[in-house]
Amino acid sequence: VAQDGYYPGLEGVISSQTAISNIVERDGAGVLEYRGYRIEDLASRVGYEEAAFLLLHGDLPTRLQLGDFNERLRAARDLPGPLIRVLGELPGSASPMDVLRTSVSLLAHDDPDRDAAATDHAANVRKAERLIARMATAIAYRERLASGLAPIPPDDRLGHAANFLRMVTGEVPSEAMRRAFDGSLVLYAEHELNASTFAARVTVSTLSDLHSGIVAAVGTLKGTLHGGANEEAWKLLEAVGSPGRAEAWVAGALARHERLMGFGHRVYKKSDPRAVILKEYCREIAAEKGDDRWERIAEPIEVAVGRKGLPPNVDWPSARLYHYLGIPLRLYTPIFAMARVAGWAAHAIEQIDHNRLLRPRGRYIGPTHRGVSEIDRR
Ligand code: CMC
Repeated sequence: VAQDGYYPGLEGVISSQTAISNIVERDGAGVLEYRGYRIEDLASRVGYEEAAFLLLHGDLPTRLQLGDFNERLRAARDLPGPLIRVLGELPGSASPMDVLRTSVSLLAHDDPDRDAAATDHAANVRKAERLIARMATAIAYRERLASGLAPIPPDDRLGHAANFLRMVTGEVPSEAMRRAFDGSLVLYAEHELNASTFAARVTVSTLSDLHSGIVAAVGTLKGTLHGGANEEAWKLLEAVGSPGRAEAWVAGALARHERLMGFGHRVYKKSDPRAVILKEYCREIAAEKGDDRWERIAEPIEVAVGRKGLPPNVDWPSARLYHYLGIPLRLYTPIFAMARVAGWAAHAIEQIDHNRLLRPRGRYIGPTHRGVSEIDRR
């Protein structure tokens, strides 16, 4: 509830104008559009590369533009030497999101445009494209090392989604699996003024550089109220463990005032359209694998939490989808980051191109008119 211009958690506050994405609730359902295209259309008709091009460049690519974009991404997939060394040296216990944050920071030093002005639009787009390619490789490379396995180099014949899955699991995914993973990357790619995107915009609004904005965003995404929720959602599903336990488990958690991760949203109060699409992918892949156990457990949880007016958000179905795809749990949030970097970069560039410093006010509630006493009398 707003009080004298104070909106707790900035709820409902419009901090920026944007032409990148829009969220509305229509007829009780959430609608999300990237640059005017509904995500239902995008997820079923374009891959991650096309969605990323749309976000960064404003329009869907022509065949020629997509070919050039793919070539630029593939050429940027290899990691620079200093990052390879650091990925091998960071402590094994470091969380993959912390490693990713450090990786983005290190990539700044090796970027060919590192000396470009912070306001150089073309250089910022080039930096963004390289980050899209390299963050994926860095996540997979580190995962292989952390599991005691040899890193798998990128494969030029594969697109972004299939190449990442192969670099992590060692296997080229089936077409249905590739499509589902690619779709999840499209759905994670952008989401208006969410917390991590806002953090990126605040950072570059000081005319700091693009990489600093993305470092801030990775750090912000890590928390469990935001991107960290997809790993927590899987833990919830495992803790419930069987369809028959769902009702009592949810009632107990809510009675203890626990947060059910993967449910609820600041903007969508009725339904998160990304969750609706991802649930379909989950069903398809579970059917392909001939094992619907987690679908049968997820359903009664959804029903029980839904009764409290909390719809599932994007992180609820993505957790089990990634499990079906054989992706280690600790990579769920880094995958969110490697997809969202397209949206983060598009917003950071939009902010810089139309910049005004983002600097809100605080509403002071502390004591006033205090005198400073001698140190021995305090
Ligand atoms: N489980 C239990 N109670 C909840 C939940 C939840 N998932 N979400 C909201 N509530 C309750 C909350 O306890 C509070 O109740 P009360 O008024 O009795 O104290 C009320 O709803 C309002 O909560 P809030 O935190 O003020 O609401 P918000 O608009 O800030 O919530 C949210 C947004 C995402 C932080 C919250 O729904 C939540 O914590 N969800 C779980 C974490 C999660 O799934 N995050 C992912 C969000 S979507 C994609 C992404 O960014 O990754």
